[in-house]
Amino acid sequence: MSSTILITRQLPESVLERLGAACQYRIGVVSGSITREALLTGLDGVEGLICQLTDRIDEAVIEAGSKLRIIANVAVGYNNIDVEAATRRGIHVTNTPDVLTDATADLTWALILSVTRRIVEADAFLRAGRFDGWDFEMLLGSGLTGKTLGLIGYGRIGRAVARRAAGFGVNVQYCSREDVAFRDDPRYQSRAVPSSPLASPINQSAHFDGLAARHVSFYELVESADIVSLHTPLAPTTRHLIDRETFRRMKPGSYLINTARGPIVDESALVEALDAGHLAGAGLDVFEDEPRVHPGLLQRQNVVLLPHIGSATLETRTAMARLAVDNVMDWIAGRMPRNKVN
Ligand code: DGY
Repeated sequence: MSSTILITRQLPESVLERLGAACQYRIGVVSGSITREALLTGLDGVEGLICQLTDRIDEAVIEAGSKLRIIANVAVGYNNIDVEAATRRGIHVTNTPDVLTDATADLTWALILSVTRRIVEADAFLRAGRFDGWDFEMLLGSGLTGKTLGLIGYGRIGRAVARRAAGFGVNVQYCSREDVAFRDDPRYQSRAVPSSPLASPINQSAHFDGLAARHVSFYELVESADIVSLHTPLAPTTRHLIDRETFRRMKPGSYLINTARGPIVDESALVEALDAGHLAGAGLDVFEDEPRVHPGLLQRQNVVLLPHIGSATLETRTAMARLAVDNVMDWIAGRMPRNKVN
């Protein structure tokens, strides 16, 4: 008898056709998010789950899926899934890396340009009928040439953002996940051998795809970057990584960009740093408590706010759906799912 898969939210027809040839599937909702009740009852008799980052797959949900063998998230981030609980029950968990790297890196640059050149503010200014002729000092922004971009997290997306920096004449510094996790441990700062093959020792340059990016410690990065951009997963070591103390250490007049996960930033501390004029602006695609946005951000002109659209191109979302289905089809065919994370 063929396997049954629950797909929490409708995926493109072309992708579903392939899956339909290999198994039976049910769809939770056509748009929006499946309710918790529908998720819990929908898991009855189901071996595979294809879910979205808005679906909270906690221990209770995993327990409700007594036959569950694979959970395929249609996202690269999988902080919505209790991976430990799944692993304890021998359930594969997969994500969708690579296919969204370029779209997310492009959007990061869209935010960098939007905040530094005041694009959204300028558009609103014109639409409000306030453009009554060119003026020498109208809507002056901040130039990028010669500035320093600090990337917190230097995985696929961080490196794709770095590659694009060369075209803007921007210097790149980065710190890795390890630099973040051990940022307050003095022994780690003086280590001789980097633990990641992509990381050079601190204060040396890593060459990747012909690109020179300087590897610095977390604190050196926040203290010297003109733009700090976040590209690290949400984990216990990164929750509120950008807090009051980090903002205090950030360069006056610098910008914060977040296309990773909202809870990496303490939003109240961000609002304080903006109110104090310490930060020049912020570009945010993700929020601490989505879809809620801190009211102190909504009123600000120097903040660009996007509704979590980092990977939102037709091509990318189709590729993400296809990859999630490929992982399930790997499992159906008795192979190891290609993007297993546990
Ligand atoms: C992800 O995949 O984790 C993004 O946040 C949405 O594409």
